[in-house]
Amino acid sequence: MRLRVHPARSPLAGTIRAPGDKSISHRAVLFGGLAEGTTEVSGFLEGEDTRATLAAMEALGARVERDGATLRVHGGGLQAPPEALDLGNAGTGIRLLAGALVGHPDLHGGVVTLTGDASLSRRPMDRIIEPLARMGARIESREGRAPLVLHPGPLRPVDLELSIASAQVKSAVLLAGMNAPGTTRITLPAPSRDHTERLLPAFGVAVRVDGLSVEIDGPVRLGGARVAVPGDLSSATFALAAALLVPGSEVRIAGVGINPTRDGVLRIVERMAPGSVDRRAAADGDAAGDEPVADLVVHHAGRPVGIEVPVEWVPLAIDEFPMLMALAAASDGVTEIRGAEELRVKESDRIAVMTEQLRRLGVAIDERPDGARIVGGGVAGGRVDAGGDHRVAMSLAVLALVADGPVEIDGADWIATSYPGFVDDLRTLGADVEEQQ
Ligand code: S3P
Repeated sequence: MRLRVHPARSPLAGTIRAPGDKSISHRAVLFGGLAEGTTEVSGFLEGEDTRATLAAMEALGARVERDGATLRVHGGGLQAPPEALDLGNAGTGIRLLAGALVGHPDLHGGVVTLTGDASLSRRPMDRIIEPLARMGARIESREGRAPLVLHPGPLRPVDLELSIASAQVKSAVLLAGMNAPGTTRITLPAPSRDHTERLLPAFGVAVRVDGLSVEIDGPVRLGGARVAVPGDLSSATFALAAALLVPGSEVRIAGVGINPTRDGVLRIVERMAPGSVDRRAAADGDAAGDEPVADLVVHHAGRPVGIEVPVEWVPLAIDEFPMLMALAAASDGVTEIRGAEELRVKESDRIAVMTEQLRRLGVAIDERPDGARIVGGGVAGGRVDAGGDHRVAMSLAVLALVADGPVEIDGADWIATSYPGFVDDLRTLGADVEEQQ
């Protein structure tokens, strides 16, 4: 599918509700499938990534019922499925599942194969295989990449120091630690999103956090929980950036998770467009699982300005860089991004893909091994490609609102990975977007 986005002729206005948080939706159904009893999940993201994790839990033996907007997951009693579990495009799905399953007592002696699409099969899995192997896990891979063949068996606890600030690796080790007798401890070099630590206690599992270290005592079983998934700040970023870019705009994005380990984009935007984002108390209060939630009211506060992005904020905004790079392209002055080499191993090589696509729209951008230097200015219309990456597709669609002419974006089907309602939401705010088959 191709999107054709027309330059905005009038300010964007209105209210949308951010779709369910992808990271928390994965965890809610994964933990629910492991838990003895029933887990009720409201606000689950019905995106391709999170559905892949839900389908994997069903294949492992969980029973899932849908009751309006609520999902009911009846978990416990896992069995190794005969078929491979296909996690599609979902890095969180495959990495967290590998950690959760590789020591699971119900699966000892069996074999579980985890696969994914072409993008997922290129992404590094050695970052989970190595720490899990130190716990005694047996995982075969294709030179550190998917497919992963798990041979579940007994695990031993570890005390690990990671060299990357990865929430997926941290979570995989903690979930494996639930099946290892004793204390598993993991220390990261910098903060990373802490959804696992916040959500496990709702399932009756104690987690101790001490600065950058997290500990869990095994063996431990999860019980059912009620989880209200907040809106996804990463998805909210697109409407937020659209309002910053289109003169005169004011939009409200309701029910957005603003977890401080994830709010780097709000800090960066506050520097690029001071005073443009207001956090208001969310009408429906904070979500379960100890996640803070707000309504974001965003208004155009003049043309954003380029900045040097503080390196310590990079892990806190890692998924927002495609949008931030596009935002920088339509800002005044130069934006420098460094210390962001992790972008190269996301759903695409986001540094390379964004550099190529922005250049097609006439943007002056220098690619760096760990980031980019972007010279803000005018953006031309033209034709670009999502490069198989949902966030690239949405970032380019938003940038198109301030281009000199229409922008066509090929490969827009990828948007369904994380935000199936994206085009409808943009239209609600007044954007002119055509979908072409
Ligand atoms: C995620 C963690 C981040 C993020 C990804 C989701 C998670 O990845 O980029 O989109 O749900 O734990 P890393 O932990 O690999 O940095």
